[in-house]
Amino acid sequence: MKRIVLLASGSGSNVENIANYFKDNPLVTIATVLTNKRDAKVIDRCNRLNVNALYFNRQSFSKSDCLLNIIKGMQPDLIILAGFLLKIPENFVAAFPNKIVNIHPALLPKYGGKGMYGMHVHNAVKNNNETETGITIHYVNENYDEGAIIHQAKTAVISTDTAEDIAQKIHVLEYEHFPKVIDQLLSN
Ligand code: GAR
Repeated sequence: MKRIVLLASGSGSNVENIANYFKDNPLVTIATVLTNKRDAKVIDRCNRLNVNALYFNRQSFSKSDCLLNIIKGMQPDLIILAGFLLKIPENFVAAFPNKIVNIHPALLPKYGGKGMYGMHVHNAVKNNNETETGITIHYVNENYDEGAIIHQAKTAVISTDTAEDIAQKIHVLEYEHFPKVIDQLLSN
């Protein structure tokens, strides 16, 4: 049995997609979904999907080993960041080398780094008149969006696309690729 822990800060549509992808797979279980936002929509989704969800405060995450020790106790094979917006502290990176995987809504190294998340990314892509964008699935290291790239996928951007249209195209790519990449990593 492989165990994954998911971290999310917002809507959690990727969490829902991943949960649905693995729900009939007896070899993979979601140990829990952890969120740093008390009112995040991902909590409602987890309740509906019958998936454990836990809220944690920033102190227990960034300023102590409290959350780290809780996650260690879950013995995860992978820790998946699915729309998680806090920087991963060094004690996590050291404790789980090549086990923390992030999805970023752009073609890294473009549009990465601090402050580059969600609509900020899509607005920047739009404002720079990019003709393509995409997703990057990568390992997490101590710097924002700089860990080794595992998988990228591209989509075209046309001049009439709004930032919201781009966000939608990115979500389509994320739903298609992210669970499959996780599945592949778990079976390696
Ligand atoms: C996703 O598009 C994900 O790539 C992005 O947040 C969105 C979360 O959507 N992550 C980042 O921007 C991380 N820097 P969701 O909550 O509906 O899954």
